[in-house]
Amino acid sequence: MPKLFSDTVINEVLDRSNIVELVSSYLPLKRAGRNHRACCPFHPEKTASFIVSADKQIFHCFGCGVGGNALTFVMQYEKVNFREALEILAQRSGIPLPEPEKSDFQKSKEDFSKNIFSLYDKARGYYHANLMVSPEAQAARAYLQKRGISKETAQHFKLGYSLPGWDTLIQYLKAHKASLALIEKSGLVVAKDEGGYYDRFRNRIIFPISDTKDRVVGFGARVLDNSLPKYINSPETAIYTKGKNLFGLNLARDFIRSLDQVIVVEGYLDMIVPFESGIKNIVASLGTALTGDQIKLIRRFTSNVVMLYDSDLAGELATLRALELLIKEDMNVRIAILPKGDDPDSFARKHGQEDFLKMVACAKNIFDYKFDLLLSRHEVNTTTGKDKIVREILPTIKKFKNQTMRAEYIKRISEKLDLDLGALFKDLEDTSYDYEYTQEPDQNASTTAVEHYRLKEFPITERMLVKLMLEELHIVDKLKNMIEPSDFVEEKLRKIVKFIFDFFAKGQECKPNILMNYIDDEEAINLISELSALEIHDCPDKEKLIEDCVKRLKRDKILYLRHEIHKEILAAQKTGDDEAVNRLMRQLDNLNKEYNSLDKQGKDHLTRSLVHG
Ligand code: UTP
Ligand code: MN
Repeated sequence: MPKLFSDTVINEVLDRSNIVELVSSYLPLKRAGRNHRACCPFHPEKTASFIVSADKQIFHCFGCGVGGNALTFVMQYEKVNFREALEILAQRSGIPLPEPEKSDFQKSKEDFSKNIFSLYDKARGYYHANLMVSPEAQAARAYLQKRGISKETAQHFKLGYSLPGWDTLIQYLKAHKASLALIEKSGLVVAKDEGGYYDRFRNRIIFPISDTKDRVVGFGARVLDNSLPKYINSPETAIYTKGKNLFGLNLARDFIRSLDQVIVVEGYLDMIVPFESGIKNIVASLGTALTGDQIKLIRRFTSNVVMLYDSDLAGELATLRALELLIKEDMNVRIAILPKGDDPDSFARKHGQEDFLKMVACAKNIFDYKFDLLLSRHEVNTTTGKDKIVREILPTIKKFKNQTMRAEYIKRISEKLDLDLGALFKDLEDTSYDYEYTQEPDQNASTTAVEHYRLKEFPITERMLVKLMLEELHIVDKLKNMIEPSDFVEEKLRKIVKFIFDFFAKGQECKPNILMNYIDDEEAINLISELSALEIHDCPDKEKLIEDCVKRLKRDKILYLRHEIHKEILAAQKTGDDEAVNRLMRQLDNLNKEYNSLDKQGKDHLTRSLVHG
């Protein structure tokens, strides 16, 4: 969250607001034990899984996973930003807010961003002018023409061309009064070993990437032939983070909103060519599988997503990965299928707008897409084939919150594979939520079934430890000498632990509702609220629980590392890299020794003791 006010002011406003009073002024709350409950205002539901805790001054919905403190509640309910939410809360509790102050760091960061924006804008103008008028850009213009990109399209997207020279951009920027220090930090130039810099992009078509406010934040650059790498991209900077932008969103946003649907493709030209042929609600994820941040960006404009990735294996895997995330984010998603060998770019050029729309209209829902894909990949008539299909499709079904849909899908599986309906429902119940789509498990992997199970379960130990630390200060004090953030495999938890330890070191209290204000990561905040809202049951001996958790944490980390090294060994064996195999084997050996020397107790009683409050 952007900090325009001092922490003291923010914490005071939070301290003086009572979250139970606050929330009940928006929706009816019912008392339930130590907490209050309601139907969640952030997703449709019939049973009340939204809880508000007076003790902890947080809210959390166990249905959709959102949570936070009084400030985040106002932000999400009123759809306002942090500052506006703070003003609303301050007014409610009668605290006058001072004029917002900015730290020097904040100011210099903002100045830097402003300068980078303007530098990128200059660079875009330069590249674009090259493409439009430079005699040296003849080949680039011919290339774009060959790919069906008109002059108007090039102007609309402000496409550009970087000249073949080594420092033409540097010279241009210098001549236009950009400071060398800024140019160096811009990522548009690369440092030479012997000192000095050269242009990052040479002899390439330039695709400017813009944010929703139409400011250029990065560039992609394509070669004019088949040489490699095909695309290079500007690096991450103060204004650009990979996986946080969507190419074309600046031009497509209003269409996406009014059509209440977005089509997501992979590549620059997959977005540009259909857009110019009349498909205006389209954006590109730029070679990555769609990320959580990109989904959040989309959600500001629509919740209806049509995925349109290449129909090759890479495209299918990227689609499947994105689907899992999209369902988790409660987006309404369908998958359009391209004829083999086509990508959105070639399809739009060959067939035009009407056929493109038809293809999008025929998009399948997730279940049909994944089920059909699995049916085509596995043998439907053998027991192993059926088993594989069921094991891969159940986690997807589990992610649907709607019971009727679940039942419908289970019925379809049962009919298609001739399997017992009751047994399938039972399997669904036993299916873990945490399953992420991966490629076929490797048959040679040495991890046993039990280890595999533990690998899937390890976040429970990690979660429990974080929960305990959020609960009592003396536990943090104790744990900070026994474990470190890097012991946590789950990235979000690692981040939270780091925050807790830093907090503790500064002598601040780790109250979850205050801690949340310092973390600029929505998912991490949701996780903190979830962990705080959970109650620990059946735990007569907390000290023992902590000890067990720490032991398990260490052990699980070794198991995890072993698993990772094993994968690397298999990969090294495939490429015949004996040296790497040997080195990895030695690492594995050391890990095994470490593992065997561990005290192997401390298992089961913790896994079952985390229950909803
Ligand atoms: P593709 O290889 O499918 O390229 O990569 P494309 O978009 O169809 O490009 P054309 O049609 O050959 O010109 C899809 C996306 O992945 C990213 C780019 O964003 C690209 O648009 N990518 C691909 C890279 O960043 N680097 C690469 O080397 C290749
Ligand atoms: Mn292509």
